[in-house]
Amino acid sequence: MSTEANVAASEIALHPAADDPEALLAVNGLKKHFAIRQGLLIRREVGAVKAVDGVSFSLRAGETMGLVGESGCGKSTTGRVVTKLLDPTAGAIIFEGKDISGYSRAEMLPLRSEIQVIFQDPYSSLNPRHTIGTIVGAPFRIQKTVKEKGIKAEVQTLMERVGLNPEHYNRYPHEFSGGQRQRIGIARAIALRPKLIVCDEPVSALDVSIQAQVVNLLEDLQNEFNIAYIFVAHDLSVVRHISDRVAVMYLGQMMEFTDRDTLYSKPLHPYTHALMSAVPVPDPAKETRRDRILLVGDLPSPSNPPPGCVFHTRCPKFRERLSDSERERCQTESPALELKAPGHFAQCHFPEVRADIANAQDAGIGAGAVESVVSPGGVSTDLPR
Ligand SMILES: Nc1ncnc2c1ncn2[C@@H]1O[C@H](COP(=O)(O)OP(=O)(O)OP(=O)(O)O)[C@@H](O)[C@H]1O
Ligand code: SF4
Ligand SMILES: [Mg+2]
Repeated sequence: MSTEANVAASEIALHPAADDPEALLAVNGLKKHFAIRQGLLIRREVGAVKAVDGVSFSLRAGETMGLVGESGCGKSTTGRVVTKLLDPTAGAIIFEGKDISGYSRAEMLPLRSEIQVIFQDPYSSLNPRHTIGTIVGAPFRIQKTVKEKGIKAEVQTLMERVGLNPEHYNRYPHEFSGGQRQRIGIARAIALRPKLIVCDEPVSALDVSIQAQVVNLLEDLQNEFNIAYIFVAHDLSVVRHISDRVAVMYLGQMMEFTDRDTLYSKPLHPYTHALMSAVPVPDPAKETRRDRILLVGDLPSPSNPPPGCVFHTRCPKFRERLSDSERERCQTESPALELKAPGHFAQCHFPEVRADIANAQDAGIGAGAVESVVSPGGVSTDLPR
């Protein structure tokens, strides 16, 4: 166990966004840097991809936190580190009062029943050579919570609960549709009644008509078993539907974090404004009248993030509406994720409520995706993707 893990969770100075006595999960100053190595024989470390660079938040039992941001901003890495599929570079992951950030695989084993993951592509996360019975029954076998002869009945009950035909117990993943395969992933994830599930874009690969069914299933299971979700998504309308609170990420950092209604009615951060303004509005009259905030320029590399505010190279407010001295502040001084209003955190020197954007969205949000932009290529790293 690392030295950080030996520090009692109660002794860690928590960021206000992580400081909630009722939290099931508190994530404090979390960092995940992937080493960049070069050289054929001697592979020297020449830099690091700062995939997650100081993220703090908390989550209560039965609560859903939506995690949004452009492709490559570190959403999946945050999910993987929180569930300890990857070890953090720094920071604390406090689950039920214990800092698990330095836990070894063996120490994590008992917690595997409490913390689960659902992936975007159900097909690649299901072993094609195993039947559904074997896949969904695996958690019972690994954790030895059910005797071998009782596993089939447990699995069939689970299959029925997630809307699959229990008679398909002996079928293989390729015999199911995308939506059904995601249901198999969900059945496996809830088998041991976890308290927390990281859902990494669980509906992004599904047809729109199937997305709603899977989201509804996740909501029903949450109500039934009081599961907390970290729900990673590109689609701001899905996030608005499912989340209690929403975290907006950019270049490995948290730009804004607050409850869903506040975020959508009083967004403070220029990055959140831009994301929201990109979501189509179903009312054609409002759609043509409203202003879009375009993000120009490429997403900077997380191996070489801009100094000062990491968003300043693309920030529309910086570009169009700040004085020279204000700009200088953005370029040189990193803003902290601060409480700007009760329960409302933002990481910006000059936050402001953009009622025009919130009002446009209140006409109803359609399906909208955050555009994916350039992510760094050509780097060699120490971990497989
Ligand atoms: N194993 C790895 N080695 C090196 N870099 C990595 C690794 N995994 C992720 N990265 C980099 O870390 C950054 C964050 O990646 P991540 O997959 O967390 O983003 P994301 O927000 O989930 O993106 P997407 O929306 O496309 O899924 C990216 O620049 C990515 O290239
Ligand atoms: S700190 Fe400056 S550059 Fe950064 S988001 Fe705020 S206004 Fe834009
Ligand atoms: Mg991802």
